[in-house]
Amino acid sequence: MHAYNTPNPPETAATRPVEGWPDWSILVVDDEPGMRNFLVKTLVPRCRTVHSAGSAEEGAQVLQAQHFDLIILDITLPGLSGVGWLKALRESGYRGHVILITAFADLDTAIEALRAGASDFILKPFRVPQMLNAIKHCFESSRLQRENFVLRHTLSRQTGSASGLIGSSAYMRALRQTLTRVAAVDSTVLLQGESGTGKELVARALHALSPRSGGQFVPVNCASMSPERMESTLFGHAKGAFAGASTAHDGLFYYAQGGTLFLDEVAELPLALQAALLRAVEDLHVRPVGSTQLVPVNVRIMAATNRSLQQEVEAGRFRKDLYYRLQVVDIVLKPLREHKEDIADLVQHFMGHLVPGKGISPLQITSAQMAYLMQYAWPGNARELRNLIERSLILGELNVSALYDSAHSRANPGGPPATNLQSLEKQHIQTVLDSVQGDKTRAAELLGISRRTLERRSAEWSSP
Ligand SMILES: Nc1ncnc2c1ncn2[C@@H]1O[C@H](COP(=O)(O)OP(=O)(O)OP(=O)(O)O)[C@@H](O)[C@H]1O
Ligand SMILES: [Mg+2]
Repeated sequence: MHAYNTPNPPETAATRPVEGWPDWSILVVDDEPGMRNFLVKTLVPRCRTVHSAGSAEEGAQVLQAQHFDLIILDITLPGLSGVGWLKALRESGYRGHVILITAFADLDTAIEALRAGASDFILKPFRVPQMLNAIKHCFESSRLQRENFVLRHTLSRQTGSASGLIGSSAYMRALRQTLTRVAAVDSTVLLQGESGTGKELVARALHALSPRSGGQFVPVNCASMSPERMESTLFGHAKGAFAGASTAHDGLFYYAQGGTLFLDEVAELPLALQAALLRAVEDLHVRPVGSTQLVPVNVRIMAATNRSLQQEVEAGRFRKDLYYRLQVVDIVLKPLREHKEDIADLVQHFMGHLVPGKGISPLQITSAQMAYLMQYAWPGNARELRNLIERSLILGELNVSALYDSAHSRANPGGPPATNLQSLEKQHIQTVLDSVQGDKTRAAELLGISRRTLERRSAEWSSP
C-alpha cells in the first residue's frame, strides 16, 4: 500500500491541471505493479492525493482511514473481485466514483459492473487520454449533483419549505442559517432542548437539506426500545444469535446506510450500548449480535435529548467519550417562551396545516386571546401550541382556559394545587392584572377564564 501526496503539483505545462480538473483523492487498486505504477505516475501530478493497493482487501483497509472521491478498480484481483468489492462498497453506502478496469471483458461483466454502481468501465490496454476523460466525466457528474443540491437548497430557502421551520425571530433566522451550514457537512449532531422544541423537526430538516437526502432518515427512540433487543435492533443479529433468532436480521444502522440515523432520547441508552455505539461512530463499523463479521456503516448520526447530557456525564450515566463524539455539532433549541415573537406565525402555520385534513374552518383569534397566548409560558413548547390549535379547531373555539387547567393538572393530577405551581399561577395572573391596571373583567377575558374563576383562584391563594 503506497501513498503519494502531491500538495503542490508542479505548475509545468505538462502537468498543469486541465481546466476543471478535479482536486481529488484517488485510490488505484490493481494487482499488477506495472499497471499500478503507470496509473499513479499519470495521476499524481493532477490530483490531491493518490494511493494504491494490490487487492480489494487492502483497498478496503486504506478506505477506512481516508475518503476517496474516486477508486480505479481492477476486476480481476486475488481474493475478492473488483465487482464483488464494488457491490459491498455500494451496500455500505460509499458514494464516491468507481471506474472499473479489466483486460478480460465481456458484455455480461460490463453490465454487472454498471448495475453494481460503477461510474465507468474501461478495457485494458487503454491510453492515458481515455482514462483522463473517464475521470473528467465522473467529476462532471459530481459537479452537477452538487449544483443540483445547492439549487434545491436555495429554492427551499426561498420558500422556507424544506426545513419546515416556521418563525422569523432572530433566533429562528440564526437557527436556519446554522442548519444550512451543518447540513452540508457530515458531522455528528447533538440536538438538545426541552420537549416539543422541534428537535426531531430540525433533525429531519438537516437530513432533507443534506447530500444524504437520497438515503433514509431512520428515527430510533432509545427510550422505547426493549433493553434486551436494543443491540440487535441497532446492529442486527446473526442467525441463531439468541433464542428466537431463526434468521439473520439487519439492524437499523443497516437501513440507514447512506442516510441518517436519528437517536432520539439518547440519554436513555444503557451504558453497555453506549460503548457499542461509540465503536460504531468511531470505526464506522458495526458487529451484528452473534456475528464475527464487522459490517461497514456509512451513516450520519444525529442524536437528541431533552436532558442535559453534560449532567448525565457528570452523574456517570453517560459516557464522556460518547458525549464528545456526539456533540461535534451541538445545537441547543430554545423553549418557546424565549422566542414568543414566533407564536403568531406558528398559530397561523398550525391552523393552515391542520385545517385542510380535518374538513373544518379556521378560527378567528381575538387580540385578547393572542395576548394570552403571548403571556403563557408554554411548558410543552411548540407541540403544546400545536395541540391547542388542533383541539380548538375540533371544538370550534380557541379555549385558552384549557391551558390554564392543563397547567394545573399537569403539575398536580387530581390533588390540590402545588405550592410552586400555585405561585407561578398567581404570578401569571398578577402580571395579567397589572397589564390591565387591575381590571378583573378584562384580565379574566385575557386569561380566557370567567371573572368568577379568577376570583375563586385569587381566593385560593389567600386561604391557608
Ligand atoms: N419552528 C417550528 N416550526 C414549525 N413547527 C414546529 C416548530 N417547532 C416545533 N414544531 C412542531 O412542534 C411539534 C413538536 O416538535 P418535535 O417533535 O420536533 O419536538 P421534540 O423536540 O422532538 O420533542 P420531544 O423531546 O418531546 O420528542 C411538531 O409537530 C413540530 O412539527
Ligand atoms: Mg422528539
